[in-house]
Amino acid sequence: MGARVSSPVVVGRAEYLAALVAAQARTRAGEPSAVLIGGEAGVGKSRLVGEFRARAAGAGVRVLAGACLDLGVEGLPFAPFAAVLRDLVRDLGADGVAGLLPGQASREFARLLPEFGVADWATDAGLARARLFEQVLTLLERLADERPVVLIIEDAHWADRSTLDLLAFLVNSQQVLDRVLIIVTYRSDELHRAHPLRPLLAELGRLGWVERVELPRLARLHADELVARILGREPELSLADEVYRRAEGNPLFVEELLRDGGGPASVLPDSLRDLLLATVRRLPEETQEALRAASAAGPGVAHPLLAAVTGLDDDPLARALRPAVAANVLTAATDGYAFRHALIREAIYDDLLPGERIRLHTRFAEALGADPGLAAPGQAAAEQAHHWYHAHDTTCALISAWHAAADARRVLASAEQLTLLARVLELWDQVPDAAQRIGASHLAVLEQAAEAAEAAEENERGIAYAAVALREVDARTEPERAARLLQTRGHLGCHLGRDDGYADLRAALELVPAERASAARAQVLLTLAGHLPDPHGQEARAATEEALALAQRAADPTTRVTALCKLATIEPAPGDDTYALELLALARTAAEQAGEYRSLLDVAVTESHVLEGIGRHEEAARVAQAAIARARDHGIPRATGAILAANIAEPLISLGRWDEATEVLEHALALSPPPESRGALQMLAGIVPLRRGDLDRAARLAAAARSSLNRDPSISHDRGMMALQFQLPLARLETEVRLAEGRQTDAVAVAAAAADRFDLASHPRYSWPLLTTAARACAGASQPIAAAQGWALADQARELLGRLRTLAGKMHASGPVERASQLTFTAETERDEGLGLTGPTAGRAALANWDGAAAAWGSLSQPYPLAIALLRAAEAALTAGDRDGATLRLRRAAGLADTIGARPLRDEISALAHNARIALTARNGDNRRRDSSDHGHRGLTAREFEVLRLVAAGQSNPEIAAKLFISTKTASVHVSNILAKLGVTSRGEAAATAYRQRLFDPAPEA
Ligand SMILES: Nc1ncnc2c1ncn2[C@@H]1O[C@H](COP(=O)(O)OP(=O)(O)OP(=O)(O)O)[C@@H](O)[C@H]1O
Ligand SMILES: [Mg+2]
Repeated sequence: MGARVSSPVVVGRAEYLAALVAAQARTRAGEPSAVLIGGEAGVGKSRLVGEFRARAAGAGVRVLAGACLDLGVEGLPFAPFAAVLRDLVRDLGADGVAGLLPGQASREFARLLPEFGVADWATDAGLARARLFEQVLTLLERLADERPVVLIIEDAHWADRSTLDLLAFLVNSQQVLDRVLIIVTYRSDELHRAHPLRPLLAELGRLGWVERVELPRLARLHADELVARILGREPELSLADEVYRRAEGNPLFVEELLRDGGGPASVLPDSLRDLLLATVRRLPEETQEALRAASAAGPGVAHPLLAAVTGLDDDPLARALRPAVAANVLTAATDGYAFRHALIREAIYDDLLPGERIRLHTRFAEALGADPGLAAPGQAAAEQAHHWYHAHDTTCALISAWHAAADARRVLASAEQLTLLARVLELWDQVPDAAQRIGASHLAVLEQAAEAAEAAEENERGIAYAAVALREVDARTEPERAARLLQTRGHLGCHLGRDDGYADLRAALELVPAERASAARAQVLLTLAGHLPDPHGQEARAATEEALALAQRAADPTTRVTALCKLATIEPAPGDDTYALELLALARTAAEQAGEYRSLLDVAVTESHVLEGIGRHEEAARVAQAAIARARDHGIPRATGAILAANIAEPLISLGRWDEATEVLEHALALSPPPESRGALQMLAGIVPLRRGDLDRAARLAAAARSSLNRDPSISHDRGMMALQFQLPLARLETEVRLAEGRQTDAVAVAAAAADRFDLASHPRYSWPLLTTAARACAGASQPIAAAQGWALADQARELLGRLRTLAGKMHASGPVERASQLTFTAETERDEGLGLTGPTAGRAALANWDGAAAAWGSLSQPYPLAIALLRAAEAALTAGDRDGATLRLRRAAGLADTIGARPLRDEISALAHNARIALTARNGDNRRRDSSDHGHRGLTAREFEVLRLVAAGQSNPEIAAKLFISTKTASVHVSNILAKLGVTSRGEAAATAYRQRLFDPAPEA
């Protein structure tokens, strides 16, 4: 057995560390403070506290730490305090410690450490204890006089009675104990009902200064990061999935599963098994017996089903399981039980003898067969299939897998459907009359498997199934059937970037010629249109339009909806987005009329995508959100669910609602989406930390996204709308991360590689943002600091810039978002143009450019690019000699950056303000007032100015609140202040005054 390796850094606990730091700050400010940290074994309590401890020690805090030992109830009294004292003696010497206390007081410590002489055993025990407690308190006080103290008591679930009493005494005395933070950790999973720590936690929890924290398992995103940190590389997706499925975010379990740095051991490491089974083995035999049965059911089991299998009546079963619940092995739910952790179940199950396993599975299968109502609704077939398979009954396993596959298909669970069909095919030869038993031919099963693989994005498997099926079908007698199989194989082949994919699709079209117009032809056409090199070109449009006409004639609503959606995404004429939305409205109605949930989801995906593309961010998020909510009951394919989540997060990021976006993304990633959509989610998830200044995390997510998207080196990711819609934003993220890391050369190289590799001109929506970032990288590279990196960089940057310009000249910018990017690109590329021009003239040209970009982003409510544009505009204003103009823009930029928490950008803003000696907050009586004749700002703050702008645009307080990401109440306070400052009484008057006095003139939107 190999060694366990830990992550060199602490993952995913920033928020908890911050809470500890804040608690410490409170004690320094003279407030009492204690933090009680609970959590299951291995979840990371000690690691968290250790990290905090290291930081505190680094900041000059004295750390005192001791742990309780697992010695049973009769443990060593005061063990953790003895440890604390021992460390202190090592540090200060016994005399040094004694010197902190009055007279002979330190003799009380003899009860804990022999170094302090002989305790006075003659005294009354109760009194002696009281004196000891007092002296510990005094000692802490004295130590805290020197420097702040953190007292850490670990593993309080093992604490002896005396330790608990002393701890309670200290926490209760904290009001007189300045500058001492007390931290206690304990395993919450060990707190059975009668545990002595329970009442103490409750009692301490009532004190105002005591904070109770339950440390949760790591969220998926962080669990993946942990795997990457432990391995020192990005894990393959299958590995990350497997580890998460089993460890469920418990860091200790993750480490154990990754022993030896390789794939997770399929059997549990012994050490982990022992840890997990230790509690189980202490339970009564009848409890263990019931647990063994439950372990064969899966992660959870309903009470009646378990009763049927164990043959126990309700009461005896409940009685048998009660100790398992008390010991936190099981958790009780309304209708059944679940194992507290999947690995506990796995450990118990692994421990079963082979014969026992078969016997249990057979009983489960039979019980479910006799009464399907024992399973969760819709699950009976799937569960039965599972149990027959593991009971090694081939015939029953094949039949039940076939029925379960049909159920899975009904709820659109393609991955499960595929697994079940694969099982049917696997068992086929062992069951002589398989076709009769399930009423379907081998070919029919293959066809379904190919389709399911396609839906589940299992490309290679889909191709393999379709290929076998094509050998079994006769194209002359059943041309449509053959065409469909060719379509599936062709689609998957194209998806993998293989040229024979096209050949398949063209062959399919020949089998269903235009003369015999059919729904099958329509579908092949749509597939073809989706894979043409130019997805917006004439051929794509023609194919889509023909498909639409065919679907209409064949009254095939599903295909019609797909065609309408496809047509809506074929880049509309510049500025024409109403057309796309009209098509989508038609598609929606068609899908609704046909009651096609899957089609409705497709419409929602497309609609939110289109809305986001034209800058209607709020609506985009809402449409995707509504689709998820609505579809939940109907079962939602994982891939579509993940794409919808991405379509919620993307607009939220645009709107600067980054916390919400992060939440959506983390949630979606936790559901293990298929690779492509996972890559998209990781890429989006990388944007927020990048802009908030957590570069490490941003870089990691970018790397994770790359490994998800390019998981298969045999796949070409260079073409096709689907591929580029992820690849281009990823290239942008990677460029931006390198820029932020100060790796200019790399940033330029990444951008240049993307420009080489992709046909950017045909994907303006994703190319414009990449172009602006690339231009920014180039602009930076020719700035003075670049000299240090040599002229080569400047040359490369110039060369790339030239190419980008040519490209931009050829590219459409349709709709307000692309136009805003285009304006930014222009402003960015003309930044260094001013070589010919100098000083104020160059400044004024740049100012106009950046003001234009700012106005564009402002009207889209995109605070982040708006703040950047304002910052650059302020720079330009300074060059042009317009200090007031610069001040105004900088303040607005600072306000925006603050609101969204864009720290690095905010630092840049502050740096410029500092260099230019501009105050970022308007103070009373500051010189703005005096030159109000110039611009007439009437002492409005940047924020108020923003609010006034919206008031003047006729917006209500709730609307203003939504736009500016503040509460309605805050908005109304701003409005009252503005009215007061302008000396007016109504919003209308305020607007009029603002226009009359040309308050908006110097601002970008003028
Ligand atoms: N946030 C984290 N980032 C990286 N590694 C972690 C993290 N949390 C825990 N670990 C690792 O997981 C293992 C278990 O963590 P730890 O010992 O802190 O758990 P614990 O909650 O204190 O468990 P116990 O209840 O057994 O004391 C350790 O090797 C630790 O380094
Ligand atoms: Mg610990």
